[in-house]
Amino acid sequence: MDFDVIIIGGGPGGYQAAIRGAQLGMRVACVENRPRLGGTCLNVGCIPSKALLESSERFIEARTGFARHGVICTDVQLDLQRLLAHKDGVVDELGRGIDFLFGKHKITRLHGTGRLDGPGRVMVRDAKSGAERAITARSVILATGSAPSTVPGVQVDERRIVSSTGGLSFEQVPKHLVVIGGGYIGLELGSVWARLGAKVTVVEYLDRITPGLDAEMAAQLLKILQKSGFEFMLGTKVTGARTRGEDLEVDVAPVAQDQAAKSPLSCDAILVAVGRKPHTEGLGLDSGGLKTDARGFIPVDLASFATAVPGIYAIGDVIGGAMLAHKASEEGIALMEMLAGQKPRVNYNTIPSVIYTAPEVASVGQTEEALTAASVPYKAGRFPFAASARAKAKAHTAGLVKVLAHATTDEILGVHIIGPEAGSLIHEAVVAMDFRASAEDLALSCHAHPTLPEALREAALAVHDRALHI
Ligand code: NAI
Repeated sequence: MDFDVIIIGGGPGGYQAAIRGAQLGMRVACVENRPRLGGTCLNVGCIPSKALLESSERFIEARTGFARHGVICTDVQLDLQRLLAHKDGVVDELGRGIDFLFGKHKITRLHGTGRLDGPGRVMVRDAKSGAERAITARSVILATGSAPSTVPGVQVDERRIVSSTGGLSFEQVPKHLVVIGGGYIGLELGSVWARLGAKVTVVEYLDRITPGLDAEMAAQLLKILQKSGFEFMLGTKVTGARTRGEDLEVDVAPVAQDQAAKSPLSCDAILVAVGRKPHTEGLGLDSGGLKTDARGFIPVDLASFATAVPGIYAIGDVIGGAMLAHKASEEGIALMEMLAGQKPRVNYNTIPSVIYTAPEVASVGQTEEALTAASVPYKAGRFPFAASARAKAKAHTAGLVKVLAHATTDEILGVHIIGPEAGSLIHEAVVAMDFRASAEDLALSCHAHPTLPEALREAALAVHDRALHI
């Protein structure tokens, strides 16, 4: 079979590239070895975790939050099986949605494992029969994503010692969950099980959580999560884990040499969330003449997504950068448009990132640390949700909005939000920054009262010491 484009990987990068290619008139094949399209994001990542976060948030609100509003719920019960079934149902429905779109756009979906077999040639091992056949195309796109990293001495069984995959479906709420890694996954899945009743201890190697996040936001998030019951062991590494009778035991040690040894932690579940590594195993990179870099990523020219081999392109987690579904989709769509002769661009400076804890944390653009390191002169405007009328009405007043703008041009360089619905609020900043708006532009736009986005406007006003409500 011959195509214009073969995409290996049907995650948010690959499947959206396939749809865009078909819209542009290309004959597209997408090779995916999971039974369901959607990749890590849909099958074992963003989507199921958000279903769990939504459901567990409802539970904890009904249990402890509604009373503040005078809504008294007595005897609030958890039906974990139904909660998990809701998550599975959401994933199923969305998977069928992608199948529908593939059918509508006449994309050839090959259920199997693809590997490069020289330029323009891909061997596909059928997932059911195991038989291999060759397909060809002018362009081949590698969109194989990433897989969870591991910790030496901690053997994942996906039952009690889990990666982000097993952490989506514990059969019972753990009594004590030890989370290794205070990043996105650890904090999101930790939040789910904490809300459902687990004691959660996060062991983090660094002396802060969420590396890469603006330090002020990370410090706020740490305090808020501690207040909600999370325990953190910062500057601590995990050196091993084992079963001890009914329980599990985790060996921990301080990272700093001069600190006293720590006793092992006893728990009944462990979540390993120490990052993800690019997925290139069995992809036949050698036969295609490709090499990975020292960290295992496939090097590409970011202006064209071209690898070192003509006709072979790569996008998404497998090329490095932010490991985010929407970053992969942006790249996939842009690449297809380039292959069709258009001139798209991916603005890496305006890719938002969201941590779906409660409250949510959302960021776009530069952090204060990055601006300082690059000697960029900037001004910061802050507005706390405690001064937002709408946040008060919601009884969710923790957090703040911070707008960073260039000290002389006033261009918005970064926006960081921790607070209610931060993941939605950030998009006003994304659009503003894509149009290279100044803080004043944002500040002069009328915002409906009383709404949460007013907090963004107030923070933009605060850049010029003109906030009205602080
Ligand atoms: P991460 O890179 O966000 O955090 C991993 C953490 O583990 C780091 O803080 C690191 O210092 C720590 N760590 C590493 N080795 C350790 C050890 N031996 N002991 C203790 N701590 C250790 O990685 P995470 O949370 O696994 O997420 C993987 C990727 O998935 C991230 O790149 C993230 O962007 C993406 N993701 C995004 C989400 C979102 O957009 N909401 C949700 C979940 C994942």
